[in-house]
Amino acid sequence: LVRAYHEKVISHYESPRNVGSLPKNDIDVGTGLVGAPACGDVMKLQIRVDEKGIISDVKFKTFGCGSAIASSSYMTERVKGLSLDDAGKIKNTEIAKELSLPPVKLHCSMLAEDAIRSAIRDYRKKRDTLPDSKKAGYIDVTQSVVTGETVATAHPGA
Ligand code: FES
Repeated sequence: LVRAYHEKVISHYESPRNVGSLPKNDIDVGTGLVGAPACGDVMKLQIRVDEKGIISDVKFKTFGCGSAIASSSYMTERVKGLSLDDAGKIKNTEIAKELSLPPVKLHCSMLAEDAIRSAIRDYRKKRDTLPDSKKAGYIDVTQSVVTGETVATAHPGA
């Protein structure tokens, strides 16, 4: 008997980690909502970001195949505790390798890559449109592409 799916996929599919939603209007929450044109499956992935720019909480809801559910479940575990920049660098190929996805299921892992990037974009867009007075107490931590140094920008507020 040939097993069609790797046991890690089955584990994430049968007991997905971090299923649920975060309040999407919270200012420290970013929401990614993406769809796969190939099959119509949809994935929602949300992150909560702490004052140091670290992902402190992650939730997902996926209306899709087992590989998409497993990919998003894996992604939530992978990005917790990461900076936004590091989380944005995670490639679908890493997920596909970790879960041993077959080639026809590569687009399912792509959905997870798209979803985390979309969540990061949403969070950054929200923060950028905040009036300065609301930014009190926040510190943006970014990594300089030139020097590789971490740069912290304080927003003391009005
Ligand atoms: Fe489309 Fe898996 S078959 S996301």
